[in-house]
Amino acid sequence: MFYIINIMIIAKKKGKGENMGIIFNEQEKQFHIFNKSLSYVIGICQDGDIGQLYFGKPIRTDQKLQDYQSYGIRPLCCNEKDDEKYTKELALLEYPSFGDGDFGSSAYEVLQDNGSRVSKFTYQFHRIYKGKKPIPGLPATYTNEDEEADSLEIVCRDLISGLEVTLCYTVWENYSAICRHTKLKNTGDKKLKLEQALSCNVDFPDTNFTWLQFEGAWGRERSPKERDISSGITAIESLRGHSSANYNPFVIIKRKNADDFQGEAFGFNLVYSGNYIAKTQADTFGKLRFNMGINPKWFQWPLEPGEEFNTPEVIITYTSNGLNDLSQNIHRLMNNNLVRSAYKNKPRPILLNNWEATEMDFDEEKILKIARKGKEAGVELFVLDDGWFGKRNDDFAGLGDWYVNTDKLPDGISGLSKKINELGLKFGLWIEPEMVNEDSDMYRQHPDWVLAAPYRPRTLGRHQMVLDYSKPEVVDNIYDQLYAVISTASIDYIKWDMNRSITECYSQDVARDKQGMTYHKYIMGVYSLYERLRKAFPHILFESCASGGARFDAGMLYYAPQAWCSDDTDGHERVKIQYGTSYGYPVSMVGSHVSASPNLQTHRAMTIDGRANVAYYGTFGYELDLNEISEEDFESVKEQIKFMKEYRELFQYGNYYRLQSPFENNISAWMVVSDDRQTAIVTTHKTENIPNWGIERIKLQGLNPDIVYTINDKDDIYGDYLMNAGISLMNKERHWYESDGDYTTHMYILKGKVTK
Ligand code: DGJ
Repeated sequence: MFYIINIMIIAKKKGKGENMGIIFNEQEKQFHIFNKSLSYVIGICQDGDIGQLYFGKPIRTDQKLQDYQSYGIRPLCCNEKDDEKYTKELALLEYPSFGDGDFGSSAYEVLQDNGSRVSKFTYQFHRIYKGKKPIPGLPATYTNEDEEADSLEIVCRDLISGLEVTLCYTVWENYSAICRHTKLKNTGDKKLKLEQALSCNVDFPDTNFTWLQFEGAWGRERSPKERDISSGITAIESLRGHSSANYNPFVIIKRKNADDFQGEAFGFNLVYSGNYIAKTQADTFGKLRFNMGINPKWFQWPLEPGEEFNTPEVIITYTSNGLNDLSQNIHRLMNNNLVRSAYKNKPRPILLNNWEATEMDFDEEKILKIARKGKEAGVELFVLDDGWFGKRNDDFAGLGDWYVNTDKLPDGISGLSKKINELGLKFGLWIEPEMVNEDSDMYRQHPDWVLAAPYRPRTLGRHQMVLDYSKPEVVDNIYDQLYAVISTASIDYIKWDMNRSITECYSQDVARDKQGMTYHKYIMGVYSLYERLRKAFPHILFESCASGGARFDAGMLYYAPQAWCSDDTDGHERVKIQYGTSYGYPVSMVGSHVSASPNLQTHRAMTIDGRANVAYYGTFGYELDLNEISEEDFESVKEQIKFMKEYRELFQYGNYYRLQSPFENNISAWMVVSDDRQTAIVTTHKTENIPNWGIERIKLQGLNPDIVYTINDKDDIYGDYLMNAGISLMNKERHWYESDGDYTTHMYILKGKVTK
């Protein structure tokens, strides 16, 4: 029988925003969150919990789905007195509790005054509104205008403990994405302690998926790695105090046959930079649970009556059209609704950084000589890296003392920045504000300002200790020191580095029951310093860095629109690193520079153009002394900079496609296409030059099938052919194998000619 639905459309309107909505079906107690590419349906279960009813391609809004929750045949515990088949073991839940019959991994755990950890919340009320609220003290996506998104808050309460759990959802009009986080508030009159407070949970009704994670280590960050998740627990985490180069806080759950070009997948980006966990649990009933958030290990958060805790946000993306589509969706959302900066959606300055040229061995004249040559080549920004402050002549001293070393720079940062400006360049500066060396005035004065466990030796990393950013006085001191430097010089860019993981995470002189707050308070301290500096100096372009890419996450992107992608600047390795990074992060975030050859990290040689062809897919710059390269190479550098100035908006903000993986092929390829599909740039990279090779074609993506393209000003080929048959890498024009060596790249610039 046709089911007549009683719906209340709250967030639907004409014009902007009409392609999305949040509908509450009062009668069926169902929420339908939707836009043109997805539907997410949740409902109030019969015991008052919140259940997951559907997540996937858009479906009709007028259907009753509550009865589709699965019921048990012979449950070993049932959750309703009057209905012995209703069991949480089989129910798909939105934020599972601990101890009330859901035996999977719970989303939160609360220790109560009486020692109990059992909790069960029930629906109280909800709010639906236009736009999106910020999350206090935490990075999060935001709306530029309310019409871009609709939000839902479902307020639930554990009537015994008084813990109020608010599930927060935002759906976007222009992205196939839902953002989620959770608020937990003590509305009772006794102390509570959160022992776990994850950001979100999604239960799927089958386990036919694989898990894609992005892993590595220093110098080889974010390689894609697929894992089977059909049974038991699959997880990644960080317990280093930062999101880490080892496992990036971004995961894709995809259908087994899904690839870059087709298939269904769900992406989960945690907007957080500290310890985290991402986990799936495939149970023996065929339910797949995914949850993500702050790592519960070493986390304990006391909640006094009236206090509230906000979890970080998770950006959940969905595609039914393959992983390139998923990634482009993430790229757009991050560029438009996560990045906040004077450089948001703007071309990034081409920079020259002195680190690989001089390390800490420099004086003003050496720096000016490098900068002058950079100006001659056409760079726009000179960045002075590590070594300008305190007694920083090697990495044993100086961190914590943010005043200039006048032996190296007699006129200070103020004098040097002015001289750099006089050359016609902007000036940028490196800092590492979270760290301190034993040999520093700061440590001598404040040994209690470092994270250190009582009576235990302090584990060093690069000879440095970690400042206790959970203490506001530490953050204030660093802010004041940095303010003094920045406000008296001409600084347009800051590279914020962080070169070790946290050990002995203990806050000195802080009460025993507050120690479990330290990791999270640390990262909140980092965010607060970023926020204060951003507000004080809104014109500054921040680039985050952590020994390369060890804190490359969506949380950082909220404060710093670009991030140093890796200390590995070898072009061949960078193809892999940047390819892996592209799954979860936009090209505009990727700090990428041309460095010297042979490369400092790998000792591999590549041509100057080969190195640039890879670095174009990022913020672009140079990390070498241009005085030291041949005249011929210097002429190439000038051409490269001219070229990048012409095309950087396309590289940084165009639609990026992975075409052939460097992890699986001798020849890998990627491309960017302009929104109007009139211009595209394809780059191929070959690992090994194999003699007498045969046919080599790569199918392109995203072109207009009905227009003719020139390729490097030659050829006249329709987009349909290039996408269905491919671009030939070995035709009459391009018999590369005869002239190439190993590790060679080629670039193809496609321009649309005629519109039919
Ligand atoms: C690590 C960074 O990744 C490098 O680029 C450089 O800034 C050094 N630190 C300086 O110590």
